[in-house]
Amino acid sequence: MQKLNTLRKNIETLYTANNPEADVWIDWSYKNHVLVVADHTERIATIQHANVELAVAGALLHDIADAVMARRDPKHEARSLALADELLQKSGFSKDETTFIVNEIIKPHSCKEIMPTTPEGKVMATADGAAHFLTDFYPLFCWRHYGPEDNYRVFKTWMLSKMEKDFNKKLFFDDVKQEVLPRYEALKLVFS
Ligand SMILES: [Fe+2]
Repeated sequence: MQKLNTLRKNIETLYTANNPEADVWIDWSYKNHVLVVADHTERIATIQHANVELAVAGALLHDIADAVMARRDPKHEARSLALADELLQKSGFSKDETTFIVNEIIKPHSCKEIMPTTPEGKVMATADGAAHFLTDFYPLFCWRHYGPEDNYRVFKTWMLSKMEKDFNKKLFFDDVKQEVLPRYEALKLVFS
């Protein structure tokens, strides 16, 4: 796990560098989302007999471009993948491990155009979705006005569709779905 510890340090350095270009939410998201997703990933990967080191590395890096640019920037996703590649190799992960983490864990984690197919990819997507429900992620999104436009009804519809996607597409394991269910039901009431 030496390279994972090195990666953790490199990622923390980037998130705490006070980069003026970074997304405004990282003051909250690094500790309350990224590290929480990494913890859930470790827990679920152990239960599912997935590779903990690769899955946690993907979790730590899944939103990494937030540390250097705004989430709305069209280059955000490509920058995340490039930064992940760079940080993994710098931290001692092999070329094959790096390719696996980037292509099989980080790339499909949003469960939009492509879905994860490996155990580690499914674990990380599940941990990300679970973290959305088990923390104050959705209220934080409200506060930061992450909706597509400044219109309350559009915003509520957008939030509800995001919750539906998180609950129905990102949670690959029934035990995690059961754990999250009361929060999902409660949040749906708030936003409906
Ligand atoms: Fe996330």
